Amino acid sequence: MQPDGSSFALPAFFVGPIPVYGTAVLSPMDGYSDLPFRSICRELGSAMSYSEFIGAIGILGGYPHLEDKLVYLPQEHPVVYQIFDNDPDRLLEAALHLEAGQIAPGYKPDIIDVNLGCSDRSVSNRGAGAGLLRTPHLIAEIFQKLTRHLHLPVTAKIRLGWDHASRNYLEVARILEDNGAALIAVHGRTRSQGYTGKADWDAIAEVVQAVSIPVLGNGDVRTVADMDRLKAHTGCAGVMIGRSAVANPWLFARLDRGQVALDQVRSTMYAHLQRNLDYFGPHLGLLRFRKNADTYLRPYSLFSELRHSLLTTTDVDQFKVLVEKVLSSPFIA
Ligand SMILES: Cc1cc2nc3c(=O)[nH]c(=O)nc-3n(C[C@H](O)[C@H](O)[C@H](O)COP(=O)(O)O)c2cc1C
Repeated sequence: MQPDGSSFALPAFFVGPIPVYGTAVLSPMDGYSDLPFRSICRELGSAMSYSEFIGAIGILGGYPHLEDKLVYLPQEHPVVYQIFDNDPDRLLEAALHLEAGQIAPGYKPDIIDVNLGCSDRSVSNRGAGAGLLRTPHLIAEIFQKLTRHLHLPVTAKIRLGWDHASRNYLEVARILEDNGAALIAVHGRTRSQGYTGKADWDAIAEVVQAVSIPVLGNGDVRTVADMDRLKAHTGCAGVMIGRSAVANPWLFARLDRGQVALDQVRSTMYAHLQRNLDYFGPHLGLLRFRKNADTYLRPYSLFSELRHSLLTTTDVDQFKVLVEKVLSSPFIA
Protein backbone atom coordinates (compact mmCIF):
# COMPACT_ATOMS: atom_id res chain seq x y z
CA MET A 1 0.00 0.00 0.00
CA GLN A 2 1.31 3.45 -0.92
CA PRO A 3 1.01 6.55 1.28
CA ASP A 4 -1.71 7.95 -0.98
CA GLY A 5 -3.83 4.89 -0.31
CA SER A 6 -3.34 3.48 -3.80
CA SER A 7 -1.63 0.20 -4.28
CA PHE A 8 1.17 0.21 -6.80
CA ALA A 9 1.01 -3.48 -7.53
CA LEU A 10 2.31 -2.26 -10.86
CA PRO A 11 5.21 0.16 -11.07
CA ALA A 12 4.25 3.82 -11.50
CA PHE A 13 6.94 4.07 -14.21
CA PHE A 14 10.24 2.55 -15.32
CA VAL A 15 13.71 4.03 -15.58
CA GLY A 16 15.07 1.79 -18.32
CA PRO A 17 14.41 -1.66 -16.87
CA ILE A 18 14.09 -0.39 -13.28
CA PRO A 19 10.58 -0.22 -11.86
CA VAL A 20 9.68 2.75 -9.68
CA TYR A 21 6.83 2.22 -7.23
CA GLY A 22 5.64 5.72 -6.46
CA THR A 23 5.30 9.14 -8.00
CA ALA A 24 6.96 11.51 -5.53
CA VAL A 25 10.74 11.72 -5.34
CA LEU A 26 13.10 13.67 -3.09
CA SER A 27 15.24 16.11 -5.14
CA PRO A 28 18.99 15.81 -5.11
CA MET A 29 20.14 18.60 -2.79
CA ASP A 30 23.74 19.30 -1.92
CA GLY A 31 24.08 19.46 1.86
CA TYR A 32 20.67 17.89 2.44
CA SER A 33 20.08 14.68 0.50
CA ASP A 34 22.55 12.70 2.58
CA LEU A 35 21.92 9.14 3.76
CA PRO A 36 20.01 10.08 6.94
CA PHE A 37 17.57 12.48 5.26
CA ARG A 38 17.20 10.47 2.04
CA SER A 39 16.45 7.27 3.89
CA ILE A 40 13.90 9.01 6.13
CA CYS A 41 12.15 10.43 3.04
CA ARG A 42 12.33 7.06 1.27
CA GLU A 43 10.66 5.39 4.26
CA LEU A 44 7.94 8.05 4.26
CA GLY A 45 7.20 7.38 0.59
CA SER A 46 9.79 9.02 -1.69
CA ALA A 47 10.08 6.57 -4.56
CA MET A 48 13.80 6.84 -5.38
CA SER A 49 16.98 8.08 -3.67
CA TYR A 50 19.13 10.63 -5.52
CA SER A 51 22.57 11.36 -4.06
CA GLU A 52 23.83 14.91 -3.68
CA PHE A 53 25.68 15.93 -6.85
CA ILE A 54 29.24 14.63 -7.09
CA GLY A 55 31.92 16.15 -9.32
CA ALA A 56 33.69 13.85 -11.76
CA ILE A 57 37.00 15.51 -10.85
CA GLY A 58 36.44 14.60 -7.20
CA ILE A 59 35.51 11.03 -8.13
CA LEU A 60 38.63 10.52 -10.21
CA GLY A 61 40.89 12.47 -7.86
CA GLY A 62 39.78 10.72 -4.66
CA TYR A 63 37.86 13.58 -3.01
CA PRO A 64 38.29 12.87 0.74
CA HIS A 65 34.62 12.59 1.80
CA LEU A 66 33.44 10.87 -1.34
CA GLU A 67 32.37 7.64 0.36
CA ASP A 68 29.97 9.62 2.56
CA LYS A 69 28.06 10.59 -0.57
CA LEU A 70 27.94 7.09 -2.03
CA VAL A 71 26.80 4.93 0.86
CA TYR A 72 23.11 4.22 1.28
CA LEU A 73 20.75 1.96 3.21
CA PRO A 74 19.36 -1.16 1.51
CA GLN A 75 15.79 0.20 1.62
CA GLU A 76 16.82 3.19 -0.49
CA HIS A 77 16.88 1.32 -3.82
CA PRO A 78 16.53 2.45 -6.55
CA VAL A 79 19.58 4.60 -5.84
CA VAL A 80 20.66 7.31 -8.26
CA TYR A 81 24.18 8.78 -8.15
CA GLN A 82 24.13 12.27 -9.63
CA ILE A 83 27.36 13.46 -11.25
CA PHE A 84 28.48 16.73 -12.81
CA ASP A 85 31.23 17.95 -15.09
CA ASN A 86 31.57 19.59 -18.49
CA ASP A 87 33.94 17.04 -19.98
CA PRO A 88 32.34 13.98 -21.62
CA ASP A 89 35.38 11.71 -21.16
CA ARG A 90 35.80 12.61 -17.52
CA LEU A 91 32.09 12.05 -16.89
CA LEU A 92 32.32 8.66 -18.59
CA GLU A 93 35.36 7.58 -16.62
CA ALA A 94 33.78 8.73 -13.35
CA ALA A 95 30.50 6.98 -14.16
CA LEU A 96 32.34 3.73 -15.01
CA HIS A 97 34.13 3.86 -11.62
CA LEU A 98 30.81 4.38 -9.85
CA GLU A 99 29.04 1.66 -11.83
CA ALA A 100 31.80 -0.80 -10.93
CA GLY A 101 31.49 0.09 -7.22
CA GLN A 102 35.21 0.90 -7.13
CA ILE A 103 34.99 3.93 -4.88
CA ALA A 104 32.80 2.79 -2.00
CA PRO A 105 33.17 -0.99 -1.98
CA GLY A 106 29.80 -2.72 -1.75
CA TYR A 107 27.89 0.31 -2.99
CA LYS A 108 26.74 0.50 -6.58
CA PRO A 109 24.06 2.76 -8.00
CA ASP A 110 21.01 1.55 -9.90
CA ILE A 111 21.00 4.65 -12.10
CA ILE A 112 23.50 7.38 -13.07
CA ASP A 113 22.11 10.91 -13.40
CA VAL A 114 23.92 13.80 -15.04
CA ASN A 115 23.33 17.26 -13.60
CA LEU A 116 22.38 19.77 -16.30
CA GLY A 117 20.72 22.14 -13.88
CA CYS A 118 23.09 23.42 -11.22
CA SER A 119 22.97 27.23 -11.31
CA ASP A 120 25.85 27.82 -8.91
CA ARG A 121 28.46 30.02 -10.62
CA SER A 122 31.36 27.80 -9.61
CA VAL A 123 29.74 24.96 -11.56
CA SER A 124 27.72 26.56 -14.36
CA ASN A 125 30.28 29.22 -15.33
CA ARG A 126 32.77 26.50 -16.16
CA GLY A 127 30.23 24.86 -18.45
CA ALA A 128 29.02 22.12 -16.09
CA GLY A 129 25.54 21.81 -14.53
CA ALA A 130 23.23 24.31 -16.20
CA GLY A 131 26.27 25.55 -18.14
CA LEU A 132 25.87 22.48 -20.37
CA LEU A 133 22.53 23.85 -21.60
CA ARG A 134 24.60 26.34 -23.62
CA THR A 135 26.42 23.51 -25.42
CA PRO A 136 23.79 21.02 -26.59
CA HIS A 137 26.37 19.22 -28.75
CA LEU A 138 28.26 18.33 -25.55
CA ILE A 139 25.05 17.02 -23.99
CA ALA A 140 24.64 14.74 -27.02
CA GLU A 141 28.24 13.55 -26.73
CA ILE A 142 27.94 12.92 -22.98
CA PHE A 143 24.78 10.86 -23.35
CA GLN A 144 26.08 8.96 -26.36
CA LYS A 145 29.20 8.00 -24.44
CA LEU A 146 27.51 7.15 -21.17
CA THR A 147 24.64 5.17 -22.63
CA ARG A 148 26.98 3.25 -24.96
CA HIS A 149 29.48 2.25 -22.26
CA LEU A 150 27.43 1.89 -19.10
CA HIS A 151 25.11 -1.00 -18.32
CA LEU A 152 23.01 1.16 -16.00
CA PRO A 153 20.28 3.55 -17.15
CA VAL A 154 21.48 7.13 -17.51
CA THR A 155 19.17 10.05 -16.71
CA ALA A 156 19.36 13.85 -16.67
CA LYS A 157 18.16 16.69 -14.49
CA ILE A 158 17.74 19.91 -16.43
CA ARG A 159 16.58 23.50 -16.14
CA LEU A 160 14.67 25.26 -18.91
CA GLY A 161 17.73 26.94 -20.40
CA TRP A 162 20.56 29.32 -19.54
CA ASP A 163 18.40 32.44 -19.50
CA HIS A 164 15.09 33.76 -20.72
CA ALA A 165 16.44 34.35 -24.23
CA SER A 166 17.71 30.78 -24.56
CA ARG A 167 15.00 28.52 -23.18
CA ASN A 168 16.09 25.45 -25.15
CA TYR A 169 14.47 22.79 -22.98
CA LEU A 170 12.66 21.11 -25.86
CA GLU A 171 15.82 20.84 -27.94
CA VAL A 172 17.71 19.50 -24.91
CA ALA A 173 14.96 17.03 -24.01
CA ARG A 174 14.93 15.62 -27.55
CA ILE A 175 18.72 15.36 -27.60
CA LEU A 176 18.60 13.48 -24.30
CA GLU A 177 15.99 11.03 -25.53
CA ASP A 178 17.70 10.55 -28.91
CA ASN A 179 20.94 9.74 -27.12
CA GLY A 180 19.52 7.13 -24.79
CA ALA A 181 18.49 8.98 -21.62
CA ALA A 182 16.04 6.90 -19.60
CA LEU A 183 14.35 9.76 -17.68
CA ILE A 184 14.45 13.54 -17.50
CA ALA A 185 13.78 15.58 -14.38
CA VAL A 186 12.84 19.15 -15.27
CA HIS A 187 13.19 22.07 -12.86
CA GLY A 188 10.91 24.69 -14.40
CA ARG A 189 13.32 27.64 -14.20
CA THR A 190 16.26 28.91 -16.21
CA ARG A 191 19.78 29.14 -14.83
CA SER A 192 19.58 32.92 -14.60
CA GLN A 193 16.39 32.71 -12.53
CA GLY A 194 18.20 30.78 -9.83
CA TYR A 195 15.37 30.19 -7.37
CA THR A 196 13.46 33.39 -8.11
CA GLY A 197 10.13 33.75 -9.89
CA LYS A 198 7.73 30.90 -10.39
CA ALA A 199 8.53 27.47 -11.81
CA ASP A 200 7.00 27.22 -15.28
CA TRP A 201 4.82 24.13 -15.19
CA ASP A 202 3.61 24.76 -18.78
CA ALA A 203 7.18 24.20 -19.97
CA ILE A 204 7.33 20.93 -18.03
CA ALA A 205 4.10 19.87 -19.78
CA GLU A 206 5.73 20.65 -23.15
CA VAL A 207 8.65 18.37 -22.29
CA VAL A 208 6.24 15.59 -21.33
CA GLN A 209 4.57 15.98 -24.74
CA ALA A 210 7.89 16.08 -26.61
CA VAL A 211 9.44 12.84 -25.32
CA SER A 212 8.28 9.33 -24.61
CA ILE A 213 10.61 8.65 -21.68
CA PRO A 214 9.37 9.43 -18.15
CA VAL A 215 9.61 13.02 -16.97
CA LEU A 216 9.74 14.18 -13.36
CA GLY A 217 8.28 17.65 -12.85
CA ASN A 218 10.11 19.85 -10.38
CA GLY A 219 9.75 23.29 -8.89
CA ASP A 220 7.56 24.94 -6.26
CA VAL A 221 5.73 21.87 -4.99
CA ARG A 222 4.87 22.84 -1.43
CA THR A 223 1.73 20.91 -0.55
CA VAL A 224 -0.04 17.64 -1.29
CA ALA A 225 -2.43 19.59 -3.52
CA ASP A 226 0.59 20.97 -5.44
CA MET A 227 1.86 17.41 -6.02
CA ASP A 228 -1.47 16.46 -7.55
CA ARG A 229 -1.77 19.73 -9.50
CA LEU A 230 1.69 19.40 -11.05
CA LYS A 231 0.91 15.85 -12.16
CA ALA A 232 -2.48 16.82 -13.54
CA HIS A 233 -1.14 19.97 -15.23
CA THR A 234 1.79 18.32 -16.97
CA GLY A 235 1.03 14.61 -17.24
CA CYS A 236 4.48 13.96 -15.75
CA ALA A 237 5.34 10.49 -14.48
CA GLY A 238 6.18 11.85 -11.06
CA VAL A 239 7.04 14.95 -9.08
CA MET A 240 10.37 15.84 -7.57
CA ILE A 241 10.33 17.83 -4.33
CA GLY A 242 13.27 19.76 -2.91
CA ARG A 243 13.02 22.64 -0.46
CA SER A 244 9.56 21.85 0.83
CA ALA A 245 10.61 18.30 1.63
CA VAL A 246 13.27 19.68 3.96
CA ALA A 247 10.57 21.50 5.92
CA ASN A 248 8.04 18.71 5.54
CA PRO A 249 9.37 15.25 4.62
CA TRP A 250 5.88 13.96 5.53
CA LEU A 251 4.78 15.28 2.11
CA PHE A 252 5.95 11.88 0.88
CA ALA A 253 3.29 10.36 3.14
CA ARG A 254 0.84 12.84 1.62
CA LEU A 255 0.58 15.02 4.71
CA ASP A 256 0.74 18.79 4.73
CA ARG A 257 2.76 20.12 7.64
CA GLY A 258 -0.29 21.10 9.68
CA GLN A 259 -1.62 17.55 9.43
CA VAL A 260 1.43 15.88 10.94
CA ALA A 261 0.68 14.59 14.44
CA LEU A 262 3.04 15.68 17.18
CA ASP A 263 4.10 12.08 17.85
CA GLN A 264 5.05 11.68 14.24
CA VAL A 265 7.09 14.90 14.27
CA ARG A 266 8.89 13.66 17.36
CA SER A 267 9.55 10.16 16.05
CA THR A 268 10.72 11.29 12.61
CA MET A 269 12.95 14.00 14.09
CA TYR A 270 14.59 11.64 16.55
CA ALA A 271 15.01 8.90 13.95
CA HIS A 272 16.65 11.46 11.66
CA LEU A 273 18.87 12.76 14.46
CA GLN A 274 19.89 9.23 15.47
CA ARG A 275 20.80 8.38 11.87
CA ASN A 276 22.91 11.54 11.72
CA LEU A 277 24.70 10.58 14.94
CA ASP A 278 25.30 7.01 13.77
CA TYR A 279 26.40 8.04 10.33
CA PHE A 280 28.45 11.22 10.92
CA GLY A 281 29.45 10.64 14.56
CA PRO A 282 28.13 12.45 17.64
CA HIS A 283 29.73 15.84 17.04
CA LEU A 284 29.30 16.33 13.30
CA GLY A 285 25.99 14.43 13.33
CA LEU A 286 24.42 16.97 15.70
CA LEU A 287 26.05 19.89 13.92
CA ARG A 288 24.64 18.78 10.58
CA PHE A 289 21.22 18.13 12.09
CA ARG A 290 20.85 21.75 13.23
CA LYS A 291 19.62 22.95 9.85
CA ASN A 292 16.98 20.21 9.82
CA ALA A 293 15.91 20.99 13.37
CA ASP A 294 15.63 24.60 12.28
CA THR A 295 13.03 23.75 9.66
CA TYR A 296 11.25 20.99 11.61
CA LEU A 297 10.67 23.25 14.61
CA ARG A 298 9.96 26.57 12.92
CA PRO A 299 6.15 26.18 13.16
CA TYR A 300 6.22 26.07 16.98
CA SER A 301 5.71 29.25 18.98
CA LEU A 302 8.53 28.65 21.48
CA PHE A 303 11.10 28.06 18.77
CA SER A 304 12.08 31.69 18.24
CA GLU A 305 12.76 31.97 21.98
CA LEU A 306 14.86 28.83 22.23
CA ARG A 307 16.32 28.92 18.74
CA HIS A 308 19.76 30.21 19.70
CA SER A 309 20.30 27.60 22.46
CA LEU A 310 18.98 24.81 20.27
CA LEU A 311 21.13 25.70 17.31
CA THR A 312 24.31 26.20 19.31
CA THR A 313 24.36 23.40 21.88
CA THR A 314 26.85 20.63 21.21
CA ASP A 315 25.29 18.28 23.76
CA VAL A 316 22.80 15.77 22.39
CA ASP A 317 20.91 15.33 25.68
CA GLN A 318 20.61 19.10 26.14
CA PHE A 319 19.47 19.35 22.52
CA LYS A 320 16.67 16.83 23.15
CA VAL A 321 15.54 18.66 26.29
CA LEU A 322 15.25 21.86 24.26
CA VAL A 323 13.42 20.06 21.44
CA GLU A 324 10.88 18.74 23.93
CA LYS A 325 10.31 22.26 25.29
CA VAL A 326 9.64 23.54 21.78
CA LEU A 327 7.37 20.64 20.87
CA SER A 328 5.26 21.30 23.95
CA SER A 329 4.42 24.80 22.67
CA PRO A 330 1.53 25.54 20.27
CA PHE A 331 1.87 24.85 16.56
CA ILE A 332 1.42 28.18 14.78
CA ALA A 333 1.88 27.61 11.04
C1 LIG B 1 20.32 23.60 -0.97
C2 LIG B 1 20.04 23.07 -2.34
C3 LIG B 1 20.93 22.17 -2.91
C4 LIG B 1 20.68 21.66 -4.19
N1 LIG B 1 21.54 20.74 -4.72
C5 LIG B 1 21.25 20.14 -5.89
C6 LIG B 1 22.05 19.09 -6.41
O1 LIG B 1 23.04 18.65 -5.80
N2 LIG B 1 21.68 18.55 -7.60
C7 LIG B 1 20.58 19.00 -8.30
O2 LIG B 1 20.29 18.48 -9.38
N3 LIG B 1 19.82 19.98 -7.84
C8 LIG B 1 20.11 20.55 -6.66
N4 LIG B 1 19.27 21.51 -6.15
C9 LIG B 1 18.03 21.86 -6.89
C10 LIG B 1 16.85 21.00 -6.42
O3 LIG B 1 17.07 19.64 -6.72
C11 LIG B 1 15.53 21.44 -7.09
O4 LIG B 1 15.68 21.31 -8.47
C12 LIG B 1 15.15 22.88 -6.76
O5 LIG B 1 15.31 23.16 -5.39
C13 LIG B 1 13.70 23.18 -7.19
O6 LIG B 1 12.80 22.33 -6.55
P1 LIG B 1 11.94 22.82 -5.25
O7 LIG B 1 11.15 24.03 -5.68
O8 LIG B 1 11.07 21.64 -4.93
O9 LIG B 1 12.93 23.16 -4.17
C14 LIG B 1 19.51 22.05 -4.90
C15 LIG B 1 18.62 22.95 -4.31
C16 LIG B 1 18.87 23.45 -3.05
C17 LIG B 1 17.88 24.42 -2.44
